[in-house]
Amino acid sequence: MSGGQEKLKILIRRAAIQKRVHEVAVQITKDFKGQRIHLIGVLKGACIFLSDLVREISLETSIDFMAVSSYGKGKQSSGQVRLLKDLDSSIQGLNVILVEDILDTGLTLSYLLRVLRQRKPKVLRVAALLDKPSRRLKEVKGDYVGFTIPNEFVVGYGLDYGERFRNLKDVCVLSLPPE
Ligand code: IMP
Ligand code: MG
Repeated sequence: MSGGQEKLKILIRRAAIQKRVHEVAVQITKDFKGQRIHLIGVLKGACIFLSDLVREISLETSIDFMAVSSYGKGKQSSGQVRLLKDLDSSIQGLNVILVEDILDTGLTLSYLLRVLRQRKPKVLRVAALLDKPSRRLKEVKGDYVGFTIPNEFVVGYGLDYGERFRNLKDVCVLSLPPE
């Protein structure tokens, strides 16, 4: 079903996101002072976070993207991660920061970290806008986390439900009518 009874409730406002993204960028700038960093965005959810984050970082940066699918159209993780788009260039010897929209079960991130570690980056860190630690199945941690949130399904600022709502400026909780 779509339309009618879906409800959106603001969880994190645009201004709070902007402020926090700036703080995370300042931290990254400090941690990698005088070095070059390579940001890898996980499509599609991280595209908006990455776009805002990279413009607040005062270092020499380059960006690349990967695409994976772990979810179908709905809210439930299939538990299987597929690589849909690989990187354009080698990351060997680079300071890599993997940029994610949200850490949920951790299945996607642990898969990606395994793939990327094999390619011998100098440093491999994780930046995630959101963290939902209560749902973890694999033990993974973000080095730079925007907000830790409760176990709610959220959309907006890049996050989707069946490809919808990515354009919302705030992060919102989506509630659906019972099936
Ligand atoms: P994980 O593999 O369970 O950690 O899931 C990571 C991916 O699932 C994220 O990159 C999102 O695309 C999606 N996801 C997890 N939780 C949410 C949510 O609350 N809203 C929208 N997408 C989510
Ligand atoms: Mg998604």
